[in-house]
Amino acid sequence: MSIAIVYGSSGGNTESVAKLIQKKLGKAADLIDIGKADADKINGYDKLILGASTWYEGQLQDDWDSFDKDALDLKGKTVALFGLGDQSGYGGEFCDGVGILYELSVKKGANVVGDKNSTDGYSFEASKAVVDGKFAGLIIDEDNQSDLTASRVERWVESIRSAF
Ligand SMILES: Cc1cc2nc3c(=O)[nH]c(=O)nc-3n(C[C@H](O)[C@H](O)[C@H](O)COP(=O)(O)O)c2cc1C
Repeated sequence: MSIAIVYGSSGGNTESVAKLIQKKLGKAADLIDIGKADADKINGYDKLILGASTWYEGQLQDDWDSFDKDALDLKGKTVALFGLGDQSGYGGEFCDGVGILYELSVKKGANVVGDKNSTDGYSFEASKAVVDGKFAGLIIDEDNQSDLTASRVERWVESIRSAF
């Protein structure tokens, strides 16, 4: 079973978290920058961890935004999501990118795991990443809560380990 961690990162924060997830997972998982990959490459993997920061008030990170998502084949694949945002500066659209990736994954028939994460410990007004009262992926805020990143990653990776 081949695993890829596919991320889009404008300033490097999401890339750092992708590397941390790779390390904690401790399995052979390729790191792929979505800005340097095409759909054919990503479609070759069985299991995917997709990550994106949110920019410009609720938009997917630039490279994800311009990526040809129609060509992405997620049918029947195991998918887990993570995202970065700033709950203080953008509390009305906190980590919306994760919500956008979640919708896309569900629409394309993926089996999304690691999608029931508590919102306790975060302070925001609204987020598309919240589905049925839970974050649909791992939510990281390097701008305000970087001290919590390592433990949040660790806990989440344990929650998806059996699926990966
Ligand atoms: C211009 C700008 C717009 C942003 N818009 C949002 C937003 O709508 N929602 C959010 O949660 N975070 C927003 N952020 C915060 C980034 O998502 C956050 O800093 C993230 O860690 C960046 O990750 P990256 O370096 O991997 O791109 C914004 C940041 C900037 C500078």
